[in-house]
Amino acid sequence: MNISTIKRDFPKLRENEPLARHTTFRVGGPARLFYEVTEIDEIPALIALAGRLELPYLICGGGSNVLFPDEGIDGLVIKIAAKDVRIDGPRVTAEAGAVMATIVPFGALRSIPGTVGGAIRGNAGVLGIEIADIIHSVSVFDPVTYQTRTRARDHLEMSYRNSCFKRTNEIILKGFFDLSLLSRDKCELLSACAFAEAMKFRREKQPAALSAGSFFKNPVPYVREKSAGYLIDRAGLKGSRIGDAQISDVHGNFFVNLGKATTREMLELAAIVKREVHKRFGIDLEEEVQIIRPPA
Ligand code: EPU
Repeated sequence: MNISTIKRDFPKLRENEPLARHTTFRVGGPARLFYEVTEIDEIPALIALAGRLELPYLICGGGSNVLFPDEGIDGLVIKIAAKDVRIDGPRVTAEAGAVMATIVPFGALRSIPGTVGGAIRGNAGVLGIEIADIIHSVSVFDPVTYQTRTRARDHLEMSYRNSCFKRTNEIILKGFFDLSLLSRDKCELLSACAFAEAMKFRREKQPAALSAGSFFKNPVPYVREKSAGYLIDRAGLKGSRIGDAQISDVHGNFFVNLGKATTREMLELAAIVKREVHKRFGIDLEEEVQIIRPPA
């Protein structure tokens, strides 16, 4: 199919779009085709387009937790940028592309730099509060049946930095949140001072440089001596550098791009960290950042 014919139906379609522009790491090669979805109902036609072109497709959001390959993606990258938010008392409905800061008026969750879709997929959290605490249900599109359905809270399989969306191919369209689901002891984490505290924590403990937040999951959540940052620090790896990819000297679990880093350099650094942490502590670290491999 001729690209100019396709562009008649999909005028927003871009060719060879540098994916580095769409990640907080600022690394990653070009997408052969790239489309930024601003209306949720554009998605089915795009999935069908990828099928017609026999190209793989890939969904991305705010790009705050992802590493794309240097060679790019020989397929269609669909960026979900639909960001409508409706707030009705404690109930909030937010499209997947809405930034977390817009879904709660204040509170620690506001400090999460990603979008709603990514935050739901990874059950993002900060300072004792996570998406699982306030999610009511999620509207998803099934790219096999072309059906839209709602997954209830009990069917999201949320645990530390995990949800069913890491194993299904469902596309997250909208999150339905209910702030009244919060247990009483967690309520204050939605207060204005929890937001101020979260921002202070980030300023003091996390680097301001180009990064994707924590690179690895904590192997045992909420245990200081088993946290990835602590282990990487104790292994003496902070500040280690390959090319322009560096393990932050502020926080051991943050990799930063000093300017012209590549994904290959980031992955080499990750391999060194995994090897050293395993050698010293017998612990296997697992990436929290989503590493996208080039489609086969
Ligand atoms: N630590 C060190 N050296 C370091 C870094 C950390 O000794 O270089 C120690 C800290 O002193 C602390 C412990 O390791 O006692 C844990 O570090 P920190 O308090 O910074 O929290 P974290 O476990 O590294 C988690 C989340 C962050 C979230 C913070 C605050 C994960 C993988 N990371 O970090 O989430 O902001 O808690 O709630 O669970 C993210 O997921 O991308 C993210 C940034």
